[in-house]
Amino acid sequence: MPQDTTARTADVVVIGGGAIGLSVAWRAAQRGRAVLVIERGELGCGASHVAAGMLAPVTEADPGELALLQLGLRSARMWPAFAAELSQASGGMDVGLRCCGALVVARDGDEAAALDRELALRRELDLTVRRLLPSAARRLEPALAPTIRLALDVPGDHVANPRAMVNALAEASLRAGVVSSTGDAVERIECGGARIRGVRLAGGSFVAAEQVVVAAGAWSAQIPGLPESATFALRPVKGQIMRLRDPAGPGLLERIVRFEGGYLVPRGDGRYVLGATMEERGFDTNVTAGGLYELLRDAAELVPGVLELVVEETAAGVRPATPDNAPVLGASDDVQGLVWATGHHRNGILLAPATAEIVAAALDGEQAPAAFAARRFVREEAHA
Ligand code: GLY
Repeated sequence: MPQDTTARTADVVVIGGGAIGLSVAWRAAQRGRAVLVIERGELGCGASHVAAGMLAPVTEADPGELALLQLGLRSARMWPAFAAELSQASGGMDVGLRCCGALVVARDGDEAAALDRELALRRELDLTVRRLLPSAARRLEPALAPTIRLALDVPGDHVANPRAMVNALAEASLRAGVVSSTGDAVERIECGGARIRGVRLAGGSFVAAEQVVVAAGAWSAQIPGLPESATFALRPVKGQIMRLRDPAGPGLLERIVRFEGGYLVPRGDGRYVLGATMEERGFDTNVTAGGLYELLRDAAELVPGVLELVVEETAAGVRPATPDNAPVLGASDDVQGLVWATGHHRNGILLAPATAEIVAAALDGEQAPAAFAARRFVREEAHA
């Protein structure tokens, strides 16, 4: 049942109550806006619920995605202050930020050669990465298999706990005056001419708002009501994960271990997230035997102790991916009052602080960086 059905006007409606939508809502409320978050499920029930929480711009860097890398580095720098402020604003809730670093590990000669290419690329970009022979890598992380061939030490990549983050954002937003309506689906965004009027909810009621932020993850480009010229291609990329617990307590791994096909993220309390598949299967979120098998097979080859861990949960979610893997942020050129905060693909938790800052500023009329504008995808024929 909806938690709140009383607010029927707002300055800003945010569609989507995940890590991105709540971060934006919190920042917009801090700027004096009356904000209503509309979430069709529970807060944080989408990709945020499945995300491991890697804050790993250097590990994830791709040579073809420099704007995304810069945004990721900027947001990573913001994370410690963001976490501290969020903790304070939520009355002391912890968001599980762990400045633990990451190791990228190769299991054979081919992967080691690929890792050396990754190292060269990162050095060209002036990123802090250290090449480690297997013995040195195993001194840092003794649980690594003796058979590993090479590792890269990425000391600046860290991790946060997305579920704890969502809980803290919900509380901080509430304290800042944000109204959250859960179990409430948006049926359509309503425009008058080329201007936002508000949103129509599935039950038929209307919420008037001059600005609507779309932060609905992989569903963001599917909400009816917008002209075709205002939208863009957004595809769901499925990720399956396992949540694991070491009955012996913490200590198996200190750092994130990244490998071809996945990663192991330590929470620091004996719990680990093993993720994640990358599958193009539409909006399917079934957990499959094959998906889990591949994750475990690859992880156990590098960290054999993973097979001793207790499986606490399996889950699957969908990442929102744009054609260039970078997010879509800021005001639409086509519809006045429409603001995008979506397309974060593998980096939603990392990019939340920078996204919130950019989008809250966009609500106040500032231009978001052109590299993240929706117009970069606009199809000529949509304008014809
Ligand atoms: N951030 C890693 C993933 O999307 O699987």
